[in-house]
Amino acid sequence: MPRPLRHRPWQLPERLVTPEPLVLGRRALLGALAALAGAGVRLADAAVPRNPRYTADDRKLTDEKLATTYNNFYEFGSHKQIAKAAEALKTRPWTIRIEGLVEKETTLDIDDLLAKVALEERIYRLRCVEAWSMVVPWTGFPLADLVALARPLGSAKYLVMQTFLDARTAPGQRAFWYPWPYTEALTLAEATHELAFLVTGAYGKPLPNSMGAPIRLAVPWKYGFKSIKSIVAFRFVEDRPETFWEEIAPHEYGFWANVNPDVPHPRWSQKTEQPLGESEKIPTKIFNGYGEWVAHLYPDLRDPVYFR
Ligand code: MTE
Repeated sequence: MPRPLRHRPWQLPERLVTPEPLVLGRRALLGALAALAGAGVRLADAAVPRNPRYTADDRKLTDEKLATTYNNFYEFGSHKQIAKAAEALKTRPWTIRIEGLVEKETTLDIDDLLAKVALEERIYRLRCVEAWSMVVPWTGFPLADLVALARPLGSAKYLVMQTFLDARTAPGQRAFWYPWPYTEALTLAEATHELAFLVTGAYGKPLPNSMGAPIRLAVPWKYGFKSIKSIVAFRFVEDRPETFWEEIAPHEYGFWANVNPDVPHPRWSQKTEQPLGESEKIPTKIFNGYGEWVAHLYPDLRDPVYFR
């Protein structure tokens, strides 16, 4: 194989999957994978290491079927059952723009990007601002790796991320009262924090479209709306941008959106959350339980502005 096995076949550029003298022939590779599967080893276990630093010890993994069919993806509708409609999104070829305050603006093919990074699996909690939550094994790489590849200028203070714009594929984008395309942003300190993760897979499989294929963000200490899906651009800027939900309802969905049970949403309490598929609600934790990791990023934890 011209690439180490930590890159899974679906992340290999097409030209590397088929051609000429592969060290391990295609049939032999398929045979080896079948043997692994037969031995009860998932491809993910064989190919992408789970990083034991990121676990959700006290919580159960959310059932895969539930997590992949109960989604927020307004591009495909403002309800949760968008999985079927989202299958219309073509995720290859997929290009990603790196732009704004960087040494050199560039456009990258996603498979070329994936060939430059090391993938790992991490278990993260996700707490939606609507008070439901899930625990998901994501495959991906640190957002900090992409920032390093982009080489931002000293003047860059924020990283803005943007979802695709294609109203023919995504009927939700015909709803003219939303400020499409979906955008989100982080400070550079947040974007380079080790927890900020770019996701390309879930449950040991390629990311389903419903969850934001081919590449989405996971920032587990913030409300789920910060974890933008199906990203096509990363833009480095100096001034804090206004993002999708902030533009729609600034008093309800702010820029910071760090999880905090003591700062209620204007229309509901944030004290508890409903884990998908479980019967009991559980208490919500500040920074979704990641306070020891991220509290230092925020100068005044008593200031409610950081929590909506
Ligand atoms: N990204 C885009 N492009 N469009 C969206 O509607 N919804 C957000 C976030 N990212 C959304 C998005 C919200 S509100 C949440 S809670 C999470 O995605 C949900 O991720 P999931 O569907 O994988 O659970």
